[in-house]
Amino acid sequence: MFETSYSEAPFKFELIPIKLRSVSFQKLGNNLIDDISLSINSKGITIILGPNGAGKSILMRLLHGLEKPSSGEVLFNGINLNNTIRLKQAMVFQNAVLLRRTAIENLSFVVSLQRPKQTSNLNKLLQEVGLYEKKNLPARRLSGGEKQRLSLARALVSRPEILLLDEPTASLDPYSVQMIETLLIKLRNQNTKIIFITHDLNQARRLAEDIIFIHKGKLEAYQSAREFFNNPESKFAQAFVQGKLIF
Ligand SMILES: Nc1ncnc2c1ncn2[C@@H]1O[C@H](COP(=O)(O)OP(=O)(O)OP(=O)(O)O)[C@@H](O)[C@H]1O
Ligand SMILES: [Mg+2]
Repeated sequence: MFETSYSEAPFKFELIPIKLRSVSFQKLGNNLIDDISLSINSKGITIILGPNGAGKSILMRLLHGLEKPSSGEVLFNGINLNNTIRLKQAMVFQNAVLLRRTAIENLSFVVSLQRPKQTSNLNKLLQEVGLYEKKNLPARRLSGGEKQRLSLARALVSRPEILLLDEPTASLDPYSVQMIETLLIKLRNQNTKIIFITHDLNQARRLAEDIIFIHKGKLEAYQSAREFFNNPESKFAQAFVQGKLIF
């Protein structure tokens, strides 16, 4: 139903494993990320779970180089995060900021910045996120969920090898969620490494190959999705999976 616009050869996972080596991130004396060591080897979708304020978005910003660790290292296939690696990533933020232009111009603007230019089919990309009919509408006129879908399409213009998504389906209706999930599965099958923050446990069960669970800036569990949901390796994760409040 949702045709993909990516026909080129799949990536070869040259940025995997993704490693955090004793990463801490402090602000105002608080350890917002607290000595996390982690090696993501999976080629499937990695989902980050944790309560509000756990540090999920900060962790993703560290992976994308928007924040620098106060100590420790972030490595992609053994290489410290640098600009070349950053150009192979794209991130969709929790609160999308779009240009005051039309939907399609928000995508073509990305192309205008590219050296060399990619040959993404922008109309097809808009189709994939269900926005083709709105292509000439100013982005500010789009609904919240439509803006979220447009920011995902914008992230895909550069055909990233690593896609970092901070709650990309948080305000989408069930049909749109399904549309985005279909697109993410397709991208995964074309060897795009996807790291995804969500609060939707059913979505995590549907999509995740592995789960990172953080609580108060600490890594509490990193397990395959099956193990995580059957036998979470920390008591906080266990409570979280059972829908209990944790402090
Ligand atoms: N620059 C900053 N200075 C001080 N505290 C910060 C800063 N940025 C984030 N924080 C705090 O760090 C904690 C983790 O923030 P983060 O945005 O990563 O949470 P989250 O796990 O993504 O939560 P949510 O599920 O609500 O999105 C929060 O308590 C937040 O207030
Ligand atoms: Mg967040």
